[in-house]
Amino acid sequence: MNVLVTGGLGYIGSHTVVELIENGYNPIIIDNLGNSNITILDRLEKLTSKNIKFYKGDVRDKELLRKIFESEKIDSIIHFAGLKAVGESVEIPLNYYDNNIESTIALLEVMNEFKVFKFVFSSSATVYGDPEKVPIDENAKLGATNPYGRTKLFIEYILKDLYESNKDYNIAILRYFNPVGAHKSGLIGEMPNGIPNNLVPYVSQVANGKREYIRVFGSDYNTIDGTGVRDYIHVVDLAKGHILALKKLEEKCGLVIYNLGTGKGYSVLQVIKAFSKAVGKDLPYKFVERRKGDIAECYSDPTKAFRELGFKAEKTIDDMAKDQWNFEKNIK
Ligand code: NAD
Ligand code: UFG
Repeated sequence: MNVLVTGGLGYIGSHTVVELIENGYNPIIIDNLGNSNITILDRLEKLTSKNIKFYKGDVRDKELLRKIFESEKIDSIIHFAGLKAVGESVEIPLNYYDNNIESTIALLEVMNEFKVFKFVFSSSATVYGDPEKVPIDENAKLGATNPYGRTKLFIEYILKDLYESNKDYNIAILRYFNPVGAHKSGLIGEMPNGIPNNLVPYVSQVANGKREYIRVFGSDYNTIDGTGVRDYIHVVDLAKGHILALKKLEEKCGLVIYNLGTGKGYSVLQVIKAFSKAVGKDLPYKFVERRKGDIAECYSDPTKAFRELGFKAEKTIDDMAKDQWNFEKNIK
């Protein structure tokens, strides 16, 4: 079965391509290399011993999409392509609305032309904004707090409206919590450009000696140790969730929404501890001011995905730290 994977050379997309191949699917990638590198394709081919069809281009380019749908018999789509940096989205909001929303609309239009109705969308826990309570289930109040989050929220509404207009669609909206870690081979993982925004890439660069110490944003949150709590999920577990979502679409499920998380929250200090263990030395950190816009606690209620998809994240925080470090220490 041919699955078009937009953004398939990115962090989550590349891990999902591996799982697709391992589960007998045939991934076809489109990526504009805006936040990835062509070397990932070679690594994916090495890892899977398969030739992988790749189109370099932008998902907003409908002519290119038509060419792909004409040449490949696309059965379903997993739409990862998008911009994802919260801070940057505040600086250049139009780029975010243009890239994330236009690419989705272009894709949905061409899908409709070719009568392809199965769609998996990468949403985010960011659509819950500042949650009223944790753990967060799928019925929690929605409300994003920055342009990036709003692109995800708007796309969710677009998908709901589309489904209301035509019940031929089968759509899975997956709300990811905090993906971290890397493939155990050490060949693929997250390679942020410049100074990492997210905690785990930052911690691993400190471990690698690229940065001096970890800045812990805030020590006075109302949490277990005063630092922010998040639901970190191993990227390979997350990737496997997409296979289960595709299977759900094949059952003609209509529009479904799932949290993909572990259901467990870890504080910044607990993450640093797990990393220190993986690296074999204490990693230096300093408390600094809270980061603007951060919330105290965010973790999922993953019950619905378990009940309806059979999804359960298997990997522990120690696995995440070990695999992330295995990847990081091999980056030249
Ligand atoms: P990533 O930046 O590593 O991957 C995205 C890929 O899409 C990149 O390879 C990039 O080159 C490509 N791309 C971007 N815009 C494109 C376009 N218009 N046309 C073609 N290719 C394009 O990001 P990721 O971490 O793998 O995230 C994948 C998806 O998951 C994104 O939609 C992101 O918003 C969502 N998400 C990520 C996280 C996270 O913390 N990583 C959390 C929640 C949701
Ligand atoms: N943190 C630090 N120091 C750092 C970076 C982060 O202390 O250098 C703290 C934050 O304050 C927070 C926790 O580590 O308490 C996690 O921060 P991240 O930046 O790693 O992740 P966020 O939860 O802020 O956001 C991420 C993505 C969002 C996405 C969200 C949920 O950046 O796009 O996860 O999926 F919406």
